[in-house]
Amino acid sequence: MRSLFLLILLTLASEAFANFNLPPLPPREEFGNIIINRTSTANDQQPVTFSHWLHRSKFTCRVCHGELDFLMKTNATEITERGNRLGKFCGACHNGKIAFRHNGNCDKCHNGDIAYSNSKFDAFVLKNSMQMTMTGNGVNWSSGLASGVLKPQAYIKKKSQDMNFEKELLLEAEMSIIPPAIFPHKAHAAWLDCDNCHPELFNIKKKGTHFSMVQILNGEYCGVCHLKVAFPMDECKRCHPAMRE
Ligand code: HEC
Ligand code: HEC
Ligand code: HEC
Ligand code: HEC
Ligand code: HEC
Ligand code: HEC
Repeated sequence: MRSLFLLILLTLASEAFANFNLPPLPPREEFGNIIINRTSTANDQQPVTFSHWLHRSKFTCRVCHGELDFLMKTNATEITERGNRLGKFCGACHNGKIAFRHNGNCDKCHNGDIAYSNSKFDAFVLKNSMQMTMTGNGVNWSSGLASGVLKPQAYIKKKSQDMNFEKELLLEAEMSIIPPAIFPHKAHAAWLDCDNCHPELFNIKKKGTHFSMVQILNGEYCGVCHLKVAFPMDECKRCHPAMRE
């Protein structure tokens, strides 16, 4: 009886959720790809292509969003040609040692083509036997890491302090009929530094922050990553394990 009651409530709840607008998704090989154009066209250059799936298969988020000071917002970082040449930003790797060098390769970055790396995607999936999911890049980045098929570098110069914090939190929605969301620290610390989230996005105190699905879908809190680069909001069950499909 009680479970029937719950079932009805859950159905009502998912209908309520139908009013939330999930943003449309690009093809899986383009999910997380961006075009950077803060200064390019103004300086007679084609805008710059950048693919998250290609780079995150080789480096954790913290390398770029910690060590190298890229902000998690397109066109927010003051990336310059001069900086790149001096070995900052993209130039920290695109120096002929870690990746193709800056000089002579202008068109590899300045081509305005968001689909530039698409032709490499299938080979990446096959080579690593990636476990597939329904949305986003269509690959399960968490399992790829856990099984060891992916070994993204954790730093390029400055080793981060290893802080093993594995606490999994249950985030209860204010609407008590919704199965709580989980927040596993382990699955995040594998890619990110504590200061990618604390204290700017979340207080270091459970329920010190208040966030709702509407705010998340507006690109705040979990939505900073889970709309753009990490698996998207469509995969309800990965955050609300007790929710029906
Ligand atoms: C090789 C470097 C690199 C790696 C690795 C990387 N990023 Fe980024 N990321 C960037 C750059 C560059 C930008 C654009 C910054 C700008 O234009 O100011 C960006 C932008 C973003 C954005 C904003 C996207 C948008 O659509 O506006 C998010 C979110 C993000 N990154 C999350 C992540 C997460 C999560 C990871 C790890 C899974 C990651 N990044 C790994 C370089 C990287
Ligand atoms: C590894 C990628 C990459 C390569 C290679 C590259 N650039 Fe850029 N370049 C960028 C990024 C990213 C920006 C910032 C773009 C923006 O915000 O619009 C940029 C900005 C610029 C700008 C804007 C104005 C300024 O001074 O910052 C110019 C001009 C430029 N690059 C010229 C070049 C030339 C010429 C080459 C080849 C010799 C080159 N770039 C190679 C990534 C690259
Ligand atoms: C942490 C190191 C690192 C940083 C930072 C980095 N890249 Fe890369 N990038 C790589 C590696 C490694 C490859 C693959 C090897 C190669 O192509 O030389 C690559 C490949 C690429 C490619 C070729 C993709 C293809 O399909 O062949 C482009 C374009 C590119 N990067 C653009 C950028 C831009 C733009 C930036 C800065 C906004 C940037 N990268 C920052 C390491 C990096
Ligand atoms: C990236 C993780 C994540 C995904 C994916 C996700 N949610 Fe949530 N959801 C949350 C969090 C976190 C909360 C808020 C919990 C709290 O209040 O602390 C929440 C709250 C809710 C609520 C309660 C009402 C509200 O606005 O807070 C509903 C209903 C809900 N989610 C439905 C869904 C449905 C349906 C899906 C799939 C389409 C989904 N969620 C996908 C993390 C997620
Ligand atoms: C991807 C984002 C993210 C990263 C990275 C992250 N955290 Fe958290 N952390 C959270 C969220 C979300 C909460 C819950 C906040 C709330 O409920 O208001 C939290 C809560 C906490 C809490 C409070 C736990 C409790 O039971 O009250 C501690 C302590 C904490 N984090 C430490 C860390 C440490 C140490 C690291 C680095 C190893 C880290 N966090 C990395 C998102 C993150
Ligand atoms: C700074 C970026 C960032 C933020 C903010 C963030 N996540 Fe994540 N999360 C990731 C990345 C990266 C992964 C690895 C999987 C992937 O990329 O698809 C991940 C994985 C997860 C997983 C593991 C799923 C699995 O199947 O292994 C859950 C659950 C999750 N996130 C929930 C949340 C919730 C809930 C919030 C907000 C309270 C949140 N995340 C905030 C970046 C982020």
